[in-house]
Amino acid sequence: MLRVFNTLGRKLEVFEPVNPGRVAIYVCGPTVYDARGANLFQSPTGYFAVMLDPYEIRKDFPILSTGVIYLDNAATSQKPRQVIEAVARFYESVNANIHRGIHRLSREATEAYEEAHEVVARFINARSWREVVFVRNATEAINLVAYSWALRNLREGDEVVITVMEHHSNMLPWVAVARMRGARVKVVGLKRDYTLDYEELERALSERTRIVAVTQASNVLGTIVDARRVARLAHEVGAICLVDGAQSVPHMPVDVRALECDFLAFSGHKMLGPTGIGVLWGREELLEGMEPFLYGGDMIREVRYRGGAIEASWNELPWKFEAGTPNIAGGVGLAEAVRYLQRVGMEEVRRHEEGLVRYALKRLSELEGVELYGPPPELRCGIVSFNVEGLDPHTVAALLDQRGIAVRSGFHCAQPLHEYLGLTEGTVRASFYLYNVKEEVDALAEALEGIAAIAAQAAGQRAL
Ligand SMILES: Cc1ncc(COP(=O)(O)O)c(C=O)c1O
Repeated sequence: MLRVFNTLGRKLEVFEPVNPGRVAIYVCGPTVYDARGANLFQSPTGYFAVMLDPYEIRKDFPILSTGVIYLDNAATSQKPRQVIEAVARFYESVNANIHRGIHRLSREATEAYEEAHEVVARFINARSWREVVFVRNATEAINLVAYSWALRNLREGDEVVITVMEHHSNMLPWVAVARMRGARVKVVGLKRDYTLDYEELERALSERTRIVAVTQASNVLGTIVDARRVARLAHEVGAICLVDGAQSVPHMPVDVRALECDFLAFSGHKMLGPTGIGVLWGREELLEGMEPFLYGGDMIREVRYRGGAIEASWNELPWKFEAGTPNIAGGVGLAEAVRYLQRVGMEEVRRHEEGLVRYALKRLSELEGVELYGPPPELRCGIVSFNVEGLDPHTVAALLDQRGIAVRSGFHCAQPLHEYLGLTEGTVRASFYLYNVKEEVDALAEALEGIAAIAAQAAGQRAL
């Protein structure tokens, strides 16, 4: 059951049963509505707040009813029925290509796809939906900036600054374009508590720095980076700042204006949306000044054949960067995912995950032979990486899988970070989302206790 609290003052009143028919509810100021817009409650004294109830939320995710304990959310999230149905509905009753037909279906598909940009723009507080470019994923978003901005703006001797925590997707595009331009990629390290070394970052910046590309949350350590501080430092030396939001946008409130960054990249599939749809947000004046990344249909204003030559001019934002038929149904699904997250509230998602991480760190730190990596819960997103003494990460993941628990093992596309930390075989990673519950953390802890005991026993026998 979804619990709804009156938030006026400090006293919280519980209204039960709030959601007897299990219909989705929406909280809007002092009124609570059901999914059809019917007024469920009127607060006599103030505003309502919704407390995330993961047990209720789980019912929206068909795959969770198979019994899997899904702790691989940093790789991709599961999808709620609402998103699955929105995609199916699109194909069943709206499907047509966009911006190409004047028939009804094409108009409706165009409207749905454009509205999806607006929904995402509001979610991240963009100034305009024209700043929201739909791409395949965070990887493509970062490559777009690397090729369309950095390749054209970097000169020999220029520098790109990244951190050692970056996912390969926010590392290799910079390495590639820097190599092409004779520029250099500088890598900033961590402090002993696994947080970013901001002093080292300041020392790394200079008038040669053109771009600072930093993750807002590490996909291995969970470390949350103060991206606004990084953006301000970048701007002080005249550089621009790209924030990799692949692990932050799905899990906490992200406001591009508050961040003061220039670009933000994230993936739909990690935030309840379909695969194959992601977002690049960029400041409008920067996007306006950039050349397209991919060329073809829909990204042009006109293409002329004059005097034996082809001449082209580019479409307005964001279409200039969305060449060819886009993932229309994916956009529609992503918008539905965003609506779902907004109904729950991103503050609530963050609060829930912080609680789970706090609990997981407590349970796992009590286990013999389990080593944990990463900062304290208030400084990390819903990610806990660890190793079991005497076992390689893949073996641990396979043993957990035998017990119905899905985690990821290896380098998590962040091999340099593991090398930097001396973790030559990688780590095991449990990552949480809004539908995970304490009982799943308990199951993980109990399974690991057994696995660690077997490993210790085997090591003891070898020593004899
Ligand atoms: C921090 C971070 N950046 C970028 C990516 C790349 O995301 P995608 O594979 O969806 O492009 C990931 C994926 O795990 C990630 O965790």
